[in-house]
Amino acid sequence: MNVLLVGSGGREHALAWKIARSPSLKRLVAAPGNPGIAELCEVRAIKADDVPGLVALAREIAADLVVVGPEVALEAGLADRLAEAGIACFGASAAAARLETSKAFTKDFCARHGLPTAAYGVFETAEGAGAFLDTLSAPYVIKADGLAAGKGVVIAGTRAEADAAVLEMLGGRFGTAGARVVIEEFMDGEEASLFALCDGKTAVLFGQAQDHKRAYDGDLGPNTGGMGTYSPAPVLTDALLQQAFDELIAPTIAGMAAEGHPYVGVLYAGLMLTAEGPKLVEYNARFGDPECQVLMLRLADDILPWLQAAATGGLSRLSGPSWREEAAVCVVMAADGYPDSPVTGAVIRGAGVDFGGEAVVFHAGTRRDEDGTLRSAGGRVLNVCALGATLHEARDLAYAAVGGIDFPGGFYRSDIGWRAL
Ligand code: AMP
Ligand code: GLY
Repeated sequence: MNVLLVGSGGREHALAWKIARSPSLKRLVAAPGNPGIAELCEVRAIKADDVPGLVALAREIAADLVVVGPEVALEAGLADRLAEAGIACFGASAAAARLETSKAFTKDFCARHGLPTAAYGVFETAEGAGAFLDTLSAPYVIKADGLAAGKGVVIAGTRAEADAAVLEMLGGRFGTAGARVVIEEFMDGEEASLFALCDGKTAVLFGQAQDHKRAYDGDLGPNTGGMGTYSPAPVLTDALLQQAFDELIAPTIAGMAAEGHPYVGVLYAGLMLTAEGPKLVEYNARFGDPECQVLMLRLADDILPWLQAAATGGLSRLSGPSWREEAAVCVVMAADGYPDSPVTGAVIRGAGVDFGGEAVVFHAGTRRDEDGTLRSAGGRVLNVCALGATLHEARDLAYAAVGGIDFPGGFYRSDIGWRAL
C-alpha cells in the first residue's frame, strides 16, 4: 500500500513508526513530518492545512490511503476533497469533525440523542450567559465554542472569574472560536481517554489511556496538551469500557449516520468517570497526543488493515484489535516556558529514535540544522516511551531513557502514572 501520513507531531511520529512496520506497506510519505519521522520515511514540506497541496501529493504518490493526524486538516476539508478525488482517507469529513471543532454542535448532538454529558447552555451574549450561571454553583465550566489550541476551557472557582472568562471569550480572545460560549455543569470524577475506529456505520473500540493535563508534578500548574500517558488505565475497567461504548460511541456513530454525516476515522472520547457512570467531557476527531504514542507501542496487530478498513467501510469484517500484555508509558519532555511561551532552539543530544530494548523516543517539536544538529522547535519536544511487563517497569524504563537525553532547559513530569501506581 502507498500511504500518505499528514501531520508533524509526536502522534504522527508514533503512527509513522507503527505504519513503517506494516507488512502491507509499499511506500510511506509524510507531510510535513518532523526530523524523527524523516528517519523512517520520505517527508514533504506541505502543511497539514494545505488541502490542495496534500491532495496533489496523494495523487502524485498514487496513495491508496491518506492517514490524517491533526484536526486542522479535517476542519479544512481534507477528507472531503480526497473523497471527491476518489482517494481513501482515514479521517472525518469537515461536517463529521464538528464533533471536535464545535463544542456547541457536540452538546446539541448529545442532547438530541440523549447521550450522558454535563448539562449546558450555549450563549452569544454576556446577559444570557450570566442568567445561566445564576442557576449553577461553583466551580463553573466555560468554553469557547470553536478550536482554541487547547486553551479555550476555563474552570472558574468563583462567579467573578466565570464572568470575566465569558467577557474575555465573547470579547474576541479566541477570535471567531469564541463568538459563542458553552457553559457546563461541573462533573466530578477521574478522566480517561477512550478511542474507537469508525467507518461510518461500525465502531470498534481501539484502546484506552490516561493523560496528565497539568504541566507540573502533582497535577499542578497550567493546563497543557498533555504531559504524559499510560495504557492500559486500570480505572477504565472492561465493564466501564463496554458501558461507554454502548451509551456513547455506538449511539454517536448511529446518530451521525442518521443525520447525514457518517463518521469515519478515530473517535476520541474524553470521559469523566462520575458516580453516575462515564460521561462525555469532549469528543476529538483524531488520536490523542500523547495517547496515540502508548497505543502504538501496545498494538499487536498490523495497523494498516485497521486504518484502511475504517476508511473504506470494512470494519465489520475485522476481528480484534489485539494488544500486547505489557503496559506502556510516555513521558513528554517540554521546553522551558511551555505552555505559555516555550523557548526554542536548544541543542538536544542523545535522542536517537530507538534506544533498543523497549524504549523509543518520538519527536514532537524538533528541527534539524543542515549540519545534523537536533534542536527544540516547539512546546512539547520529545515523547519518551517504553513498554514494560508492568506499569512500574514501563515507567522505570521510560525515565531511564529520559535520563540519557541531554535537553538543556527541558522539563518533564516525574510522576507519570501516579494514579495507577
Ligand atoms: P475540554 O477541552 O472540553 O476537554 O476541557 C479541558 C479540560 O477541562 C478537561 O480535560 C477537563 O479536565 C475539564 N473539563 C471540561 N469540561 C468539564 C466539566 N463539565 N466538568 C469538569 N471538568 C471539565
Ligand atoms: N492529550 C489530549 C489531547 O490530545 O487532546
